[in-house]
Amino acid sequence: MSSNGGQMASSWFETVAIAQRRAEKRLPKSVYGALVAGSEKGLSANDNLTSFDQLGFAPHVAGLFNERSTATTVMGQSVSMPVLLSPTGVQAVHPGGEVAVARAAANRGVAMGLSSFASYSVEDVCAVSDQVFFQLYWSGSRDTLLQRLERAKNAGAKGIILTLDWSFANGRDWGSPWIPEKINMKAVTKLAPGVLARPRWLWSFAKTGHLPSLTTPNMAAPGEKAPTFFGAYHEWMQSTLPSWSDVAWLRSQWEGPFMVKGVCRVDDAKRVVDLGATALSVSNHGGNNLDGTPAPIRALPAVVDAVGDQIEVLLDGGIRRGSDVVKALALGANAVMIGRAYLWGLAAAGQSGVENVLDVLRGGIDSALLGLAKSDVKELDRTDVVAPADFFRKLG
Ligand SMILES: Cc1cc2nc3c(=O)[nH]c(=O)nc-3n(C[C@H](O)[C@H](O)[C@H](O)COP(=O)(O)O)c2cc1C
Repeated sequence: MSSNGGQMASSWFETVAIAQRRAEKRLPKSVYGALVAGSEKGLSANDNLTSFDQLGFAPHVAGLFNERSTATTVMGQSVSMPVLLSPTGVQAVHPGGEVAVARAAANRGVAMGLSSFASYSVEDVCAVSDQVFFQLYWSGSRDTLLQRLERAKNAGAKGIILTLDWSFANGRDWGSPWIPEKINMKAVTKLAPGVLARPRWLWSFAKTGHLPSLTTPNMAAPGEKAPTFFGAYHEWMQSTLPSWSDVAWLRSQWEGPFMVKGVCRVDDAKRVVDLGATALSVSNHGGNNLDGTPAPIRALPAVVDAVGDQIEVLLDGGIRRGSDVVKALALGANAVMIGRAYLWGLAAAGQSGVENVLDVLRGGIDSALLGLAKSDVKELDRTDVVAPADFFRKLG
């Protein structure tokens, strides 16, 4: 009997860890390294994963449910399960890029966040999915930000994700991958050892007739060419950092659902409520940011206790299994967002790899609901998980 829902194709992977191993085999070392990411000593990136291992379940053995529902609503969107695809700005993983991710999301009935640093335009992505949230950084002037909001709205984005937790950390104890400004001859020569060792990845691009472009079309000024990744990054680094009233102003310029991503502290969460946001995500940017920030799953219950009845609370960071999703929901999250999990799937097998990851997570959620005697994801509560005495952190 196959335990993978009848999908017998040899390319099917049964866990995200297997997708990651396939991605590592397939990608040039520098591209793989850009997805592993992390910052400084990797304390946060590591804690994001190991913290989930410290949480256990308290299952029942009878009174279980044959029918179980994973459907829910997030930021006004009806979704088939409480898992969103978090915005990620990495290029060159697969030629299908964000359009392949959006197709997978639409096929599986989940919403996706599209990064400002994406390699496909918001118009291309919204053309294949009608559940797209556009992600902004505080980059450029107020006028620039308004143009981006307007463009996202015209393209059909259903909401905004404003990511505020970036501190431009730029060192890693294990060394950072080299990412070229442009894929030209010089870059190809420098990347050659890593790229030539991965002919299948190179071939997947060669078939499409172009190499990864490393441009950011959503950061282009109206009528201008898309800036390169580093051109856009430069604009962001030069920008004046926002005050709380700047953030409130931006929120007032968008009529629909609005999420602030990267909140860890209770006092910040209250301010996000005060400025009228629809949702916040407890997140440390996948551990790529201020190293030493605790795993969001540790900070989640304090945030939920403070603001959970006033705003939708999401969590992202470290989700690799359906059971991780269930742990986060039990501790009060309305939904989670995933980053690397779907990037591994995308790298391993394009659109179907992302669908595979979503199916793996759905299977894991369902299995945990069965064991915990819940008929619906919304019934999960704190008594479903056991945590070590010193597990949680209240920040702020
Ligand atoms: C390679 C990479 C690129 C990312 N780019 C962005 C981005 O452009 N915008 C953003 O808001 N978050 C970005 N993130 C953070 C993710 O949205 C998310 O917070 C994080 O990946 C969650 O942790 P996980 O990878 O353990 O699931 C990125 C993360 C990774 C790994």
